[in-house]
Amino acid sequence: MYNTYPFKLNPLPYEYDEMEPYIDKETMFLHHDKHLKNYIDKLNLAISKYPKLYNWPLEKLLTSIMFLPEDIKTDIKNNAGGVYNHNLYFEGLKKVGKGNIPIGKLARKIDFQYTNFNDFYNKFKEKALSVFGSGYAWLVLNNECKLDIVTTKNQDTVLSLNLCPIILIDVWEHAYYLKYNNRREEYIENYKNIIDWQKAEQRYEKCLKNCIK
Ligand SMILES: [Fe+2]
Repeated sequence: MYNTYPFKLNPLPYEYDEMEPYIDKETMFLHHDKHLKNYIDKLNLAISKYPKLYNWPLEKLLTSIMFLPEDIKTDIKNNAGGVYNHNLYFEGLKKVGKGNIPIGKLARKIDFQYTNFNDFYNKFKEKALSVFGSGYAWLVLNNECKLDIVTTKNQDTVLSLNLCPIILIDVWEHAYYLKYNNRREEYIENYKNIIDWQKAEQRYEKCLKNCIK
């Protein structure tokens, strides 16, 4: 996912209706093919003016905002963030249904820090519900190798906070409104059924390599 300019819309790794009934086909299509595509197009437009940025991967753009030309700082922050966050979100989904729980080392770490999965998920849900307006809730690993649940606004990422992402939920209205209307809580509760914990475990293992025990 960490490609460079010109950024492209990767196809979803599953069908648009794969996450039904938790995420409906139309929302998936609009979210991926229209919203994410829009972030990609705007990111490419901003970068197109500056050839020196052509070989910068997304992560570098997002962690170097202060070094970017003044006129594109905001566009890059919002749109590179939009691309990075959405790629993580879409690539982290897998329909499993009831009984979907973490696996491996991450499962043990969640139990160690939060007692059990249900307690963890209640905290995650509470955090996601606390996002005022648009944003994300994340499970991250901090640089002391501890799990944490954090939120970000708009298309901000956790990279600038020096946190390593494991899972995230998009709580922008465009992620759920067609099916759930104002029932954000129901969407967050249902998200539990479509978290790809295998992918989360891979991300956790990668994060572990970069933190200081
Ligand atoms: Fe979104």
